[in-house]
Amino acid sequence: MRSIVGDLLLLRLGDASDGPMNQRLYRAIREAILDGTLPGDTRLPATRDLAAELGIARNTVVHVYAQLQAEGYTRSRQGNGTFVTASVPDAYLATGRSRRHQGSGPSGPVLSERGAHIVDRVSASPYQWGAFMPGVPDVTEFPHRKFGRIFSALWRKPAPELLTYSYGGGLPALREVLAEHLGLTRSVDCDPEQIIITEGSHQAIDLATRMLGASGDIAWIENPGYWGARTVLRANGVRIEPQPVDEEGMLLPSAAEAISTPPKFIFVTPSHQYPLGTVMSLARRRQLLALARRWGSWIIEDDYDSEFRFSGRPISSLQGLEPDAPVIYLGTFSKTLYPGLRVGYLVLPKHLAAAFQAGHAELYREGHLMTHAALAAFISEGHYAAHIRRMRMLYGKRRAILVNLIERRLGPQWLHRDSSEAGLHLILNLPEDLDDNAVVDVARARGVLTRPLSRYYAGPEPARHGLLLGYACVPESQIARKFEILLDSLNEVARRGERA
Ligand SMILES: Cc1ncc(COP(=O)(O)O)c(C=O)c1O
Repeated sequence: MRSIVGDLLLLRLGDASDGPMNQRLYRAIREAILDGTLPGDTRLPATRDLAAELGIARNTVVHVYAQLQAEGYTRSRQGNGTFVTASVPDAYLATGRSRRHQGSGPSGPVLSERGAHIVDRVSASPYQWGAFMPGVPDVTEFPHRKFGRIFSALWRKPAPELLTYSYGGGLPALREVLAEHLGLTRSVDCDPEQIIITEGSHQAIDLATRMLGASGDIAWIENPGYWGARTVLRANGVRIEPQPVDEEGMLLPSAAEAISTPPKFIFVTPSHQYPLGTVMSLARRRQLLALARRWGSWIIEDDYDSEFRFSGRPISSLQGLEPDAPVIYLGTFSKTLYPGLRVGYLVLPKHLAAAFQAGHAELYREGHLMTHAALAAFISEGHYAAHIRRMRMLYGKRRAILVNLIERRLGPQWLHRDSSEAGLHLILNLPEDLDDNAVVDVARARGVLTRPLSRYYAGPEPARHGLLLGYACVPESQIARKFEILLDSLNEVARRGERA
């Protein structure tokens, strides 16, 4: 007979596409502790029993229990078993508690299967500001006075059209300046009518998936890849098939190779592979476009941070490479301005634009036109391009300081060499068997934020362990001090012998 804890974990383990069993079990127990499903003092089943209940090796359970204990989530009482620690630190519990309150009431879980699936494997972090949080620009450098002046001028006498419901994919003035900007800086080939302004990339992926996909369709995503795309596609019933990446980008079958069911969507980050940083080669881009045309697939090109390239020439978009390419291009202001703005955009093939505009209005009801108007003025007055230029210099300097520290204090082999000199983060390689989740937890307890590379992998391939280190949001004066804390955390985990 299965125990209640065994049943709960079975529900939360996910499947092989969620990674190796030891990571899935570790995550399932840790998240159940954090969201309060396994409260303090709960006794976990004996390792032999749990292994039998879940049909997995006992060693896997032993290893996971040891890791949870080392991180303070559980403790063992001599001869009595393993128990959830009575007091998990509050900071860890904060998000979990609110999740539990949304998810279940006194009569048990109320979430649908889809809802449970969405929150079972949460990747969005509650920690978003501080060294070395990846993917976060330096929001303190945003020229808020200039933006504020533009905004206040608009608010002095707001046009009624800017305050009512909107229709048509965002303010035309913003789509116009954006089409020009994207053409100049990213070789994106489009008219303003092909652009839809969204509330960031998640909404853009959601709209594209709903408008073009059906439940059961297949999506190829890069492995490792962006968790946000994976979450939104899966929430719409799309089956994920992770594809490995090499130094030229997503690995693709040759034209002669037979594919039983071709993908409906192919999600790629060609200008700066997320998170490894590779640039997709021209040959691979051509191959991808040819396969997508043959299969009738849609390429979703996520061009999230390509404005920040610190050496060499800018990389052109895939969208502009061939006329009528089957590409849906995504961009965002989250990295160039600030993530809280929640403004992104889609560039669609011409024949899809009208249907997507209607779908966007039906699904999400549009608004934020005052923000669109302020952004349009900010771009057309030259402030946007100037801000990007200034940030490029700043981030390039911060990156160089961090690279230098890594090479001096750890050695060049710790620096992931595929990562191009671009973007807002780099990858620190960890020795093969050092657990990146453990390092992240120890560093966070000491006030330094990073994200574990292994978390970005899906599928049965063993995940590589490493750390995503964001340098953009760390003032130069703090980089060395924060890096020392990170080194201490690495040493601490190595000393404890926590292995991946
Ligand atoms: C690969 C990738 N795409 C897109 C985004 C931006 O998403 P949004 O526009 O929703 O802020 C991010 C942010 O972290 C990202 O890492």
